[in-house]
Amino acid sequence: MTELIREIDPLRARLALARERGLRVGVVPTMGALHRGHLALIAEARRRAQVVVVTVFVNPTQFGPNEDFKKYPRTLEKDVEACRAMGAELVFAPENESVLYPPGDETRLRVPETTKHLEGAFRPTHFEGVATIVLKLFNVVGPGVAVFGRKDYQQLQVVTRMARDLFVPMEIVGIPTVREDDGLALSSRNAYLSPEDRQKARGIPEGLSAAVAAWEAGERHVQPLIAAARLPIAAGATSIDYVACADAVSMAPLDELARIERKAVLAIAARYGTTRLIDNVVLGEDPAPIG
Ligand code: PAJ
Repeated sequence: MTELIREIDPLRARLALARERGLRVGVVPTMGALHRGHLALIAEARRRAQVVVVTVFVNPTQFGPNEDFKKYPRTLEKDVEACRAMGAELVFAPENESVLYPPGDETRLRVPETTKHLEGAFRPTHFEGVATIVLKLFNVVGPGVAVFGRKDYQQLQVVTRMARDLFVPMEIVGIPTVREDDGLALSSRNAYLSPEDRQKARGIPEGLSAAVAAWEAGERHVQPLIAAARLPIAAGATSIDYVACADAVSMAPLDELARIERKAVLAIAARYGTTRLIDNVVLGEDPAPIG
């Protein structure tokens, strides 16, 4: 049975009981509008914990002034149903912002180096909002494990860095990106795409697959890997924010002339119409999105 909880105190009471009984708590933080990608996270949490909490909260502090906070899809009833089908015990969905940002709230977390480039460069306040809400959720839930998607690769590194730096006593797990049949990564924002743009967005998995193919053929220089990824994306995108290689842990960008010596991620952000999509592959680790 899945229980919907809207306030911190009853959630804490419920989880304190579970922990007293020696049960491991797993948390899956989300902004709702759940799709198969989110469900894969819940499945992983179930494998690693006996009590699973899915949090559903469209976090205002991680949206920039011109971003889609107001129009972000909100589908709580369906989300609770999906959590039920996945066997999650609890859904924590605060009714309004003041549950997690009560009056007077002002503390914010910064992870300056990991967020300097890629998404952080284009969304300057985004990761401060993410790190802050994720630590709030960790403190409210007290999980033994939290599960995140590698779809938001930089976010996973930010959260991992933050939890390590602050000695948060828990495990953080990242799971591979869940994709549509044509390779496009599942995202709540795909719903904004016009049918034409949805077709054009196939350029993203095509580009990432071209880079993986080049990698597998032995290419280790950054520039040709980026060029391989960029070509199919540029063919359909309205605009490209970045196609870049970065160190897979620090997220420091790799020089285009460099040779890749350590684990690297090839990450992209592109717009189709007004919809901004992100995706990535860890070179040498992730399969080509189009198999
Ligand atoms: P949201 O975009 O709802 O994503 C919630 C989690 O689902 C994240 O860990 C994200 O990486 C993962 N996810 C999304 N699409 C995925 C896919 N196609 N395959 C696998 N995992 C996928 O990310 C956030 O919310 C927020 O920033 C949050 C962490 C909840 C903080 O507000």
